Amino acid sequence: DWTMGAYREEAIRKIKEQVGDKKVICGLSGGVDSSVAAALLHDAIGDQLTCVFVDHGLLRLNEGEEVVAMFRDHMNLQVIHAQEQELFLNELDGQSDPETKRKIIGRLFIDVFQKYANQIEGAEFLAQGTLYPDVIESVSFSGGPSVTIKSHHNVGGLPEKMGLKLVEPLRELFKDEVRELGRELGLPDSFIGRHPFPGPGLAIRCPGEITREKLEILRKADAVYIDQIRKHGLYDEIWQAFVAILPVRTVGVMGDGRTYDYACALRAVTSVDGMTADYYPFSHEFLGETATRIINEVKGINRVTYDITSKPPGTIEWE
Ligand code: XMP
Repeated sequence: DWTMGAYREEAIRKIKEQVGDKKVICGLSGGVDSSVAAALLHDAIGDQLTCVFVDHGLLRLNEGEEVVAMFRDHMNLQVIHAQEQELFLNELDGQSDPETKRKIIGRLFIDVFQKYANQIEGAEFLAQGTLYPDVIESVSFSGGPSVTIKSHHNVGGLPEKMGLKLVEPLRELFKDEVRELGRELGLPDSFIGRHPFPGPGLAIRCPGEITREKLEILRKADAVYIDQIRKHGLYDEIWQAFVAILPVRTVGVMGDGRTYDYACALRAVTSVDGMTADYYPFSHEFLGETATRIINEVKGINRVTYDITSKPPGTIEWE
């Protein structure tokens, strides 16, 4: 009968067979998928693998440093940390259209990835943490027509452009199976259990124009929100939770003074595969306490709302 242990052995055998003694490049995003793909490849081919982690300046608080430290120091993988925050944020400056933002990030990501990958001599393969749901390119709602909702951030077309062959060791798996495989490979539980994080990062949680100021505020608010969720023991019940900073400032009162700061929206959903989702039914007590904490602890936010839209008709992310 089928077990993840057996799947792992079979996946390792297939990787060795495909790759032989050649070098492989793997893009690490900090998400569970690419992390599990990298760990599996490292298991199979050791130092024939080099990972490239692109920091686009749209990561959460301390995320870049934490991911690189885990893979380099804890797991002994070879990781190139591409610090390209300025490049991405400068190109995104003044852009407010969601698809334009996604396309800029996707294009730059490919350029940057290529630049760093070219430094790895003699590489013949590119590894990707593509899952089964990613293989299905468009989202089909039950009963409805098949429609593409958002241009997905991925590195499609990159292998051909770079003359590399593709290795996709997770393409038969769903998210929960990837997590199980990650545990099997010895990735820490705290890492495996992390909520999914989209490739375009905080850009799609900052509807409208992205500014460094808004990103800074968003990172702090998100950290408080996730801390609240963990403290109340709710993290594992939720598929994804995050803060979106709204492109509007509103008037408030703090002490004796008037404030004029950003409003934010809290988002939390339950889901099986991200294709459909229900908003999470937090208690009013939890919501009130969280709003108070965010406003007290995060300078720049004076109003907190809770997004109670399910998917469909909403999407999980705000863009
Ligand atoms: P939406 O917002 O479309 O998202 O309901 C469904 C799931 O996909 C994630 N997502 C992405 N993941 N690249 C990714 O790797 C992307 O461009 C992207 N856009 C959305 C989202 O976080 C949710 O889990």
